[in-house]
Amino acid sequence: MISIAVAGGTGLAGSAVVRECLRRGLETRVLSRHSPGAETPAYVEGASYVQVDILSGHGLEDALVGADVVIDTLNGQSRAARAVLTLGAGNLLRAAAAAGVRRATLLSIVNVDRSAFSYYRAKAEQETAYAGSALESVTVRSTQFHDLVAGMFASGRRLGIVPVFRGTSFQSISTADVARLLVDAATGPVQGTHSGFAVGGPKVQSMRELANEWRAATGSAGRVVEMPLPGAFGRFLREGLNLVPEAAAGRETFSEWLRRVRP
Ligand SMILES: NC(=O)c1ccc[n+]([C@@H]2O[C@H](COP(=O)([O-])OP(=O)(O)OC[C@H]3O[C@@H](n4cnc5c(N)ncnc54)[C@H](OP(=O)(O)O)[C@@H]3O)[C@@H](O)[C@H]2O)c1
Repeated sequence: MISIAVAGGTGLAGSAVVRECLRRGLETRVLSRHSPGAETPAYVEGASYVQVDILSGHGLEDALVGADVVIDTLNGQSRAARAVLTLGAGNLLRAAAAAGVRRATLLSIVNVDRSAFSYYRAKAEQETAYAGSALESVTVRSTQFHDLVAGMFASGRRLGIVPVFRGTSFQSISTADVARLLVDAATGPVQGTHSGFAVGGPKVQSMRELANEWRAATGSAGRVVEMPLPGAFGRFLREGLNLVPEAAAGRETFSEWLRRVRP
């Protein structure tokens, strides 16, 4: 049986990956700093949880012994935590090579190397670490998750508005679809020592259309307000660099996801 180590497997994408691995009957261990309580949504019955700090390296080598494949769904959103993506990638890949892991699979973001947005710069550095690693590697670049889009709409709640960034569209994808595609990449045939591909949601939709679907599904009375999104991320979105219509591998649309998860 293939043994999978999911680094960051208690997170949003990571816990979906853990569920998908277990659904396929794979032996699954989760590497993160905190082990989730059995009553929390991050906990998936059947997985084993190992406490590891990717930055200090605490617990890392032991946690990887016997694993065939590592799937990296780690995250560090804040400026202070970003080293998880950069230094963390180096630490994880070195420890995986030392433990005899065969393949490393990274979850990244579509066109992440084409923006000056500082979080994206850290993600691009993470990708570079994978492309230069001693292990066989596959990088799966996803579009934005449905959760991220819904979170942007929910952020206007206190002001009674539903923010819509002018001139932007999304091809958002469910983390369940991302998990399926990531586990396919982690366990299927590879296209070379270091390979990668993009995956997107089933539909490209304007942010306004998505906002209307979100309002209908959540019963929000918030007023849809168009606003500019300044900065590098805004430019990235207006240029449509977040879209990969030719790689619409996700199945669940935003409106189907809204009906299922009721955010
Ligand atoms: N959001 C999107 O739309 C989107 C789209 C495409 C790709 N992605 C990528 O998907 C990945 C996962 O994102 P997410 O939102 O699912 O992340 P998340 O929910 O924030 O989860 C992050 C995970 O990393 C672990 N972690 C953080 N610091 C750690 C450390 N020092 N040592 C060990 N584990 C650590 C966390 O567990 P502990 O805190 O317990 O350590 C948690 O399991 C990211 O790389 C992101 O760039 C996101």
